[in-house]
Amino acid sequence: MTDVTVLGMGAMGRALASSLVAGGQTVTVWNRTPGRSVPGAVVASSVGSAVAASPVVVVCVVDYAAMRSFLSPDDFAGRTVVNLTNGTPAQARDASLAFGSSYVDGGIMAVPPMIGRPGSLVLYSGSSSAFSAVRPVLEVFGEARFLGEDPGRAALYDLALLSGMYGMFGGVYHALALTASEDLDVRPLLKAWLSAMLAVLPDGADKTDSNLAMQAVAYVNLLDASRDQGVRTDLVAPMGDLLARGAAAESGTTLVDLLRQ
Ligand SMILES: NC(=O)c1ccc[n+]([C@@H]2O[C@H](COP(=O)([O-])OP(=O)(O)OC[C@H]3O[C@@H](n4cnc5c(N)ncnc54)[C@H](OP(=O)(O)O)[C@@H]3O)[C@@H](O)[C@H]2O)c1
Repeated sequence: MTDVTVLGMGAMGRALASSLVAGGQTVTVWNRTPGRSVPGAVVASSVGSAVAASPVVVVCVVDYAAMRSFLSPDDFAGRTVVNLTNGTPAQARDASLAFGSSYVDGGIMAVPPMIGRPGSLVLYSGSSSAFSAVRPVLEVFGEARFLGEDPGRAALYDLALLSGMYGMFGGVYHALALTASEDLDVRPLLKAWLSAMLAVLPDGADKTDSNLAMQAVAYVNLLDASRDQGVRTDLVAPMGDLLARGAAAESGTTLVDLLRQ
């Protein structure tokens, strides 16, 4: 027997398993494709023997379809399942129903090199008793933030945070393409600008966004200049549509209101 089993030895599964080993846990690992492991872990030859080896089973594979393809809830009697695979709230709720009262779902807000280091945050939701019992183990990965008994809550927050990240990255890639069109590099200015703007992050859910008409006009310049520079507008055009709709909307309507319609 070992303390923890990790199923999935991709980049993230390996980081999780390595941090457990470094934290003094005994660890069993399994991966669909043999040959992927981490130093100090015991490699199981089958999913069944990996699950049987530990009272806590951490799952981290590409998606829920992959997880459900090799895991049967029947194999988990008496074990706590912590699923750190990225998925939707509906998939998390569905898995919770299938795996029962010892199921905890999670969303990792870190990249593999951050696991076990300051700044790493993992969101959890699902069975609070199961979470409390395994919390000391999970804290090895980083801050362990429990968001409530609804198993879909961690996935919703995870995807909301990823939306913020990808929205920002989309703008960043567009900015890089714009300046690259004249062999310039905007990165130093861009990092400082985005950091400054974080301090005035829009509050849009509960108050009207100001000067939407002005922003909608300026945004047309951004789109026109992009086309002039030979840069595709696919990533940034939808924001212009939203600003225009916001400028035309009834007073008091926020951009978040418009997105929710
Ligand atoms: N890497 C990150 O920056 C990061 C950050 C936060 C969250 N995550 C999440 O963590 C999870 C794992 O990501 P990763 O970075 O480890 O991805 P990865 O390096 O691409 O590894 C994918 C893992 O999924 C396994 N897998 C894929 N299809 C499978 C199937 N049908 N049956 C069994 N196993 C299957 C792979 O096994 P094989 O080796 O056999 O292909 C491998 O272990 C994902 O849900 C991802 O969204 C990743």
